[in-house]
Amino acid sequence: AQTVSRNDDGVVTVGGVDVKQLAEEFGTPAYVMDEDDFRARARAWRSAFGQDADVFYAGKAFLSRAVVRWLHEEGLNLDVCSGGELATALSAGMPADRIAFHGNNKSTTEIRRAIEAGVGRIVLDSFQEIVRVAHIAQELGVRQRVQIRITVGVEAHTHEFIATAHEDQKFGIPLAGGQAAEAVRRALQLDGLELIGIHSHIGSQIFDMSGFEVAAHRVVGLLKEIRDEHGVELPEIDLGGGLGIAYTSDDDPREPHEIAKALTEIVVRECEAARLRTPRISVEPGRAVVGPTAFTLYEVGTVKPLDGLRTYVSVDGGMSDNIRTALYEAEYSVALVSRASDAEPMLVRVVGKHCESGDIVVKDAFLPADLAPGDLIAVPATGAYCRSMASNYNHVLRPPVVAVKDGEARVIVRRETEEDLLRLDVG
Ligand code: LLP
Repeated sequence: AQTVSRNDDGVVTVGGVDVKQLAEEFGTPAYVMDEDDFRARARAWRSAFGQDADVFYAGKAFLSRAVVRWLHEEGLNLDVCSGGELATALSAGMPADRIAFHGNNKSTTEIRRAIEAGVGRIVLDSFQEIVRVAHIAQELGVRQRVQIRITVGVEAHTHEFIATAHEDQKFGIPLAGGQAAEAVRRALQLDGLELIGIHSHIGSQIFDMSGFEVAAHRVVGLLKEIRDEHGVELPEIDLGGGLGIAYTSDDDPREPHEIAKALTEIVVRECEAARLRTPRISVEPGRAVVGPTAFTLYEVGTVKPLDGLRTYVSVDGGMSDNIRTALYEAEYSVALVSRASDAEPMLVRVVGKHCESGDIVVKDAFLPADLAPGDLIAVPATGAYCRSMASNYNHVLRPPVVAVKDGEARVIVRRETEEDLLRLDVG
């Protein structure tokens, strides 16, 4: 977060609020989100792409009603991928025509609800879904705007589980073997659908633009094929999300304006070569908007030195509030934030309180050797895919999201309570 600094006592403040105050008032663990930083990043994406393009924030990274309002105010659109995300978006007043509905297995209930609400586009992910959406739209007397998600055969340089445009995975319709062209053929024949474009998402936490280059080349190639076969120039393409952020000092992400410039240039160049009108471009950043805007604040519970190995630091959360380390071997950093320390650095592993040895938050890091129970530590860059992937494993209560701004803190998602847990248990 941009407004992080240390006061004279070495206590970290964010958005003008110090972390000791936050811990006292809201408890730990807590996700602390810097509202100004979120808005600044959203605005940077919006202005980088300008009026001839659309930015759809990917709600899966983190979604709450406050965030939906911020996005709306900053002029972003929203990508949702479930009925729950759609309900959150609508309940916070996001205009339905600024919502894109994604997913590889949307239920008929979800599809009906999205069409009734008037979502701006549904991104079709399979042959069955093309027919399913067309059917429901026709039943409702609507011509639904849709895009077809294709897989362009690019293997993005990222963890295997989050790369999505290579061929052997569940998303989209392969370009290979003429399948995508066949999907377009079918969609164009169905009265319930208005095909507005082609969608491609190649993966997540990507730094190298060359994957997008290949993807754009192939998407434009398909647009050309469609023009030649059907005489239609589809007006839009979506290049998905996936832009990487800095989790540790080794990562060197690009700024939104550099990304916008690179993507736009690629598309314009490819379209000129294919003699096509340049379609309206959209993108779907999630992590790059919200990831850096929050950190997780934990209290240290135990400090356990293992001779000759490292020191295990247990915090009051763990894999239930951040599954990314266990799931993707994600790397994070950590800092002591409740005081200054001149002590020597010691090698630590920050672990959670769950009954599982893979319950690791930060695999390798250094913290001052005088670290003690009661100290507060913060793990930065947990705004994306942490609260949204949080679980109740071991019946641990999911932490709150506290937004800070101008010296004030307010809860935007409250901490779960034991009553919340027990309310679901009706046996
Ligand atoms: N658009 C589509 C169609 C997507 O599937 C995704 C992410 C995005 C946009 C946003 O990607 P982003 O800009 O946030 O990278 N849980 C994993 C990431 C899964 C991403 C899934 N799709 C993680 O924690 O790294």
